[in-house]
Amino acid sequence: MPLSKISLTNFRCFESLELSLSPGVNFFYGSNGSGKTSLLEAIYLFSSGKSFKSTNLAALIKHNNKKFSLRGYDGTKGDVIEINKMIDKPINVALNNKKIASNKLLKKFPCTPIHNTTFSFANASPDFRRKLLDRSAAICDEKFLASWFAYYRALKQRNSLLKNNRISDIYAWNKQLVHYGNSLTELRHLFFEKTLNNFRIILNSIGAINVFDFLKHIEISFFQGWEKNHTLLNILEDNIYNDKRRKTTLFGPHKSDIKFFINDIDAKQILSRGEQKFFSILWSCAQNEVLKKEYNIDPVLIIDDIKSELDERVFDLLMKIIQHSKNQIIFSCIDDTFSSKIADSLNQFKMFHVEQLR
Ligand SMILES: Nc1ncnc2c1ncn2[C@@H]1O[C@H](COP(=O)(O)OP(=O)(O)OP(=O)(O)O)[C@@H](O)[C@H]1O
Ligand SMILES: [Mg+2]
Repeated sequence: MPLSKISLTNFRCFESLELSLSPGVNFFYGSNGSGKTSLLEAIYLFSSGKSFKSTNLAALIKHNNKKFSLRGYDGTKGDVIEINKMIDKPINVALNNKKIASNKLLKKFPCTPIHNTTFSFANASPDFRRKLLDRSAAICDEKFLASWFAYYRALKQRNSLLKNNRISDIYAWNKQLVHYGNSLTELRHLFFEKTLNNFRIILNSIGAINVFDFLKHIEISFFQGWEKNHTLLNILEDNIYNDKRRKTTLFGPHKSDIKFFINDIDAKQILSRGEQKFFSILWSCAQNEVLKKEYNIDPVLIIDDIKSELDERVFDLLMKIIQHSKNQIIFSCIDDTFSSKIADSLNQFKMFHVEQLR
């Protein structure tokens, strides 16, 4: 990273588009339906081979066409990434003309995406928060992905034995679950602690507590997926009766989560929409900081529709984060809200009026 040039062909509302991006702050603005989310989504695809809006990649092909193509160029490393998706075929990804699996993209073109579905972090399902944590942890540690796959493979086997009532074979799988599950949990916990630490640093540096009272009371903790004072082996063995009855493994790292409480009440029951959005953006920015500061990885930070539902005070807080960032940032908003004073303070600021790109 950073992405210096991107081109889109028959991608959503764009027929053909080529853009040069700034290695610093990039800002896309335009009215509803002009193509802001589509552009940010194309950039996210370079890091994941996935859309953040739809599970059906064929829906991203411009209407009445059979294929979309994306091309990205990393001017620092000289890497070229090409993504092609035909209507009736799986996605095809090539790095410097060599085909690669899309799960390899995350390492090559890391990115932290913040958009509509990540704006309600506290309200989302545990599964969602876990995935976000795992995605970042996977960027920084090879061991993490290996443990992740091995754990979930073992879990699938164990659950299938529970379904078929083959209990005698379960003990061998418990061992596998414990081995990979503990390693997974340790790495998740480590990443969580670092994120929490950076979250607090960002909060203090932008003076957010003066704007939001809830930040004084919020408690954020990592839940490993089973009770703290038990080992994973104990939990698996002690719960075998319930697991058998429910035909699934009830506790373990597959249930892990990040918990937010305010005065002992789940934060999702307390926070307003604007508070949730601000909190979610900050948490993702903290994860991004961890990758940068602790692992020397430079992910692109993507924030779609940054301003909606936020008042001027909160928007100013977010601007402070963006002003301090040295990484590539790509964000969007319905209108051009930048005075030349703010624009001048942003690192290599580049602005695009999306209507004029089509
Ligand atoms: N496969 C497709 N082919 C053609 N047009 C599409 C396709 N998918 C989406 N669109 C259209 O692309 C346009 C841009 O959508 P996009 O979500 O990028 O807009 P946006 O600028 O983010 O708008 P908003 O401010 O409402 O979030 C919309 O008019 C949408 O209907
Ligand atoms: Mg949009």
